[in-house]
Amino acid sequence: MTDEPYLAGLFSLDGRVALVTGGSSGIGRAVAEALARAGARVVVLARREDELDRTVRELEALGCRAARVSADLGSREGVRAAAEAAAEPFGEPDIVVNSAGINLRPPMEELGEDVWDATMAVNLDAPFLLGRRFGPGMAERGYGRLIHIASQQAFRAFVTSGAYGVSKAGLVALARSQAEAWSARGVTANTLVPGFVMTPLNERLSTDPARVEALAARTMTGRNGLPEDFAGAAVFLAGPSSGYVTGQAVFVDGGFSVH
Ligand SMILES: NC(=O)c1ccc[n+]([C@@H]2O[C@H](COP(=O)([O-])OP(=O)(O)OC[C@H]3O[C@@H](n4cnc5c(N)ncnc54)[C@H](OP(=O)(O)O)[C@@H]3O)[C@@H](O)[C@H]2O)c1
Repeated sequence: MTDEPYLAGLFSLDGRVALVTGGSSGIGRAVAEALARAGARVVVLARREDELDRTVRELEALGCRAARVSADLGSREGVRAAAEAAAEPFGEPDIVVNSAGINLRPPMEELGEDVWDATMAVNLDAPFLLGRRFGPGMAERGYGRLIHIASQQAFRAFVTSGAYGVSKAGLVALARSQAEAWSARGVTANTLVPGFVMTPLNERLSTDPARVEALAARTMTGRNGLPEDFAGAAVFLAGPSSGYVTGQAVFVDGGFSVH
């Protein structure tokens, strides 16, 4: 017999509002659905309108409440405007998931300042600014969950890490700093660390079966990641039962990092 009220006490997001950047594709899309199906009202944020509309339609078809914000997180002004727009549909978020990210892979010797700046803006500056915008309100209300999607490349060089790995290492440190600032007032901050996940971000790599197979062989589970692998971990980190888990990097990688 499943004790539904007990499970709800651990994991239910009823009454919570979540913002998921990059919620229209890949890992963010799966996380948005997981949080919505666990009871949260979810705002998905990205640039492309069609993908956003489709996501909202699909979530609503599941009986969930969802809204969308089309915005570019590539500039500080863009992030500030996006944050205000994101708080409109359902009010201030209790949960912010930073999944929007870009991975441009020029070799180090060709890595220009433009790629560096663009990478830092979306992957690191936006999560920092969104945390600064929403973290204090969460702390005042006594509940908040900041969840960042990092990467193996925060910890190791891997497939031309370049600026990307640096931005993701910064994100792991950002979670620690946010945890230090707000955990005593009910706001946790953590990162989820994927391995290689089959999403549009990896389109080019995914079309090379030999590379895909070689990456799968580096895991312990024998396969690459899927967006839905992040559903349970995201619900846990967003929910009441993870209140004593903060500042952590949680690897959801099939054992890639320990093989
Ligand atoms: N896939 C992997 O193997 C892997 C491994 C490690 C870490 N990660 C990380 O996981 C996160 C999600 O990746 P994914 O694989 O799910 O990628 P994805 O399918 O390409 O999704 C990326 C999302 O970010 C949005 N986005 C990109 N640039 C944006 C911008 N300037 N402003 C607003 N939204 C923006 C995209 O929508 P629009 O293009 O419409 O804006 C899309 O919704 C990323 O942070 C990535 O670094 C992925």
